[in-house]
Amino acid sequence: MSEQIVLTGIKPTGTPHLGNYVGALKPLVEMAKTNKTFVFIADLHALNIIHDPKQIKQHTYEIAAILMALGLNLDNATLFRQSDIVQVSQLSTMLMNITPKGLMNRAHSYKAAVDKNIAAGVDTDAGINMGLYTYPILMAADILLYESDVVPVGADQKQHVEFARDIAGYFNHVYGDTFKLPEPVIGEDTGIIPGLDGRKMSKSYDNVIPLFAPASQLKKKIMRIITDSKLPSEPKNPDDSTIFQLYRHFASPDEIAALRTRFEQGGMGYGDAKQILFDKVNDVLSGPRSEYERLMSTPSEIDAILADGASRARVVAERTYNRVSRAMLG
Ligand code: ADP
Ligand code: TRP
Repeated sequence: MSEQIVLTGIKPTGTPHLGNYVGALKPLVEMAKTNKTFVFIADLHALNIIHDPKQIKQHTYEIAAILMALGLNLDNATLFRQSDIVQVSQLSTMLMNITPKGLMNRAHSYKAAVDKNIAAGVDTDAGINMGLYTYPILMAADILLYESDVVPVGADQKQHVEFARDIAGYFNHVYGDTFKLPEPVIGEDTGIIPGLDGRKMSKSYDNVIPLFAPASQLKKKIMRIITDSKLPSEPKNPDDSTIFQLYRHFASPDEIAALRTRFEQGGMGYGDAKQILFDKVNDVLSGPRSEYERLMSTPSEIDAILADGASRARVVAERTYNRVSRAMLG
């Protein structure tokens, strides 16, 4: 097993979909096969967007159950809820005091919110809460608290990991060597998974296929994928087809090559292609889906795993926080 400690957080802001599965959840489960990994559900980070506790709780259970159902190796991986470890909030408060305000002004997510306000002709900070503004500091606390080496993130999160490095550097400069400097690792490019309408599958576009939708609903969604109007007899370009782009993440190399040929040769209608896609996705996901459904109806099992994860995470969190507290407060 690699000695490097991997850490990542997943925000409970929506029901995970096939894009999240291919782009984030599946690679994470793979990585945890060979690495000591901290995986947490970033419920505190969801607070700047979701103000309904029921939704946060529901999505937290969904994410935990999904990772368990996908076979996350719980010997290597510590799976926990961010808010269960109070030291993360305490560390965040400490880090506030060495983080330059200018650094936060430069954060992409804050700047994007300001730009949107400017474009709408309203006050620059309209609708922006301090949770959004200080989001990178809480994220730095996550990363530094668990002494992580490697933080696998999507390209949109790279700046946050760089900020965590910067903040750790300022801290070490003032208070002496306290934090390890983490590295962002941009995950292997799985490409962007298209949604029902052909744009990036995203909860913001309302075009998603939920990862563990029951088979009947999965089929309905797949049948609704938008296609062009080519006749069954016509040759089709698989690389332009959402159906094929999804299929290639679930099928074997031989199966992918076979479907490619059927697209290119003509003679297959989109209805048939959708049926092939449904059969494959359903085949791959039906085992984990049953386990997911079982777990969701037995929340006490999820609670037990999260409690065990929290007690393991707390050992590291206390150690780091005590070091910081001694360095700053004596
Ligand atoms: P959404 O766009 O639905 O809001 P998030 O931004 O919460 O999704 O994404 C969570 C994780 O899932 C990120 O690591 C992101 O890279 C990955 N992800 C989301 N949508 C896709 C997609 N369509 N294709 C590949 N990866 C995706
Ligand atoms: N900000 C990340 C996202 O929006 C989630 C997250 C919170 C995270 N804390 C983290 C990711 C620490 C990596 C490390 O997806």
